[in-house]
Amino acid sequence: MSNEKCQNNSCPYRCQYGFCGIDVEGCSLELLTEREGIIHPSAYVRSDTVIEKDVEIAELACVGSRGMTLRWDTNKHIHWRRKGQDYPVILKEGAYIGARTVIMRGTKWSTVIDENTFIGPNVSIGHDNKIGKHCCILSGTVTCGSVVIGDYSYIAPSCTIRDNITLGKGVTIGIGSLVLKDVPDGATVVGRPAQDIMLFRKERQKIKELIRLE
Ligand SMILES: CC(C)(COP(=O)(O)OP(=O)(O)OC[C@H]1O[C@@H](n2cnc3c(N)ncnc32)[C@H](O)[C@@H]1OP(=O)(O)O)[C@@H](O)C(=O)NCCC(=O)NCCS
Repeated sequence: MSNEKCQNNSCPYRCQYGFCGIDVEGCSLELLTEREGIIHPSAYVRSDTVIEKDVEIAELACVGSRGMTLRWDTNKHIHWRRKGQDYPVILKEGAYIGARTVIMRGTKWSTVIDENTFIGPNVSIGHDNKIGKHCCILSGTVTCGSVVIGDYSYIAPSCTIRDNITLGKGVTIGIGSLVLKDVPDGATVVGRPAQDIMLFRKERQKIKELIRLE
């Protein structure tokens, strides 16, 4: 990755990475994609972020914002404070970060988005997350702090994953699910709270039978 500022005097943005991909004269989108990926100039990327080859960061994404802890005092007032130390976000080769997505930096270790993982728009990735390679995390999903997601997992839109949860490899999380427990390798879970789809189907069946009996 180049650390030089944009050298293109005709570019209105002059981004700090020098390969923002803005299609202005002298700054060919195609060429830059081939070379090092694209960071949209409207994205905020904290300066310590590690960005490997062919990473794309879309409009208004925020990479490296800080995580925090919440504490309730005896009067039940909430206090928030900055958590732990700062560890940079690591975006591995071919990762894609969607528009308006926020990736929080680490407080215990780096937040990592592994190779060729696609993160859609409006996603929030919590501090200290480890997202495996070739995963797909779609629009509106929220992962809390210290979540681990195994390689080749698919998280459908609008899911919520509780803090410290581990999803195995090749997991599917159904659309709109709320994950409160660890999920084993290869499992599909759905619902709020999420449960294995086989169990979920059986329960739906039972409910339908009960309704018929009434
Ligand atoms: C996980 C998933 C694949 C399961 O789909 P499926 O195998 O077709 O599930 P089934 O049709 O066997 O569903 C069984 C029951 O669970 C329900 N169900 C399925 N997914 C559900 C979900 N995510 N939340 C709540 N209920 C769900 C179904 O309505 C059905 O109930 P019914 O028998 O009363 O109609 C699906 O929920 C899903 O999330 N698909 C991905 C969609 C997606 O990502 N779209 C965006 C693409 S950009």
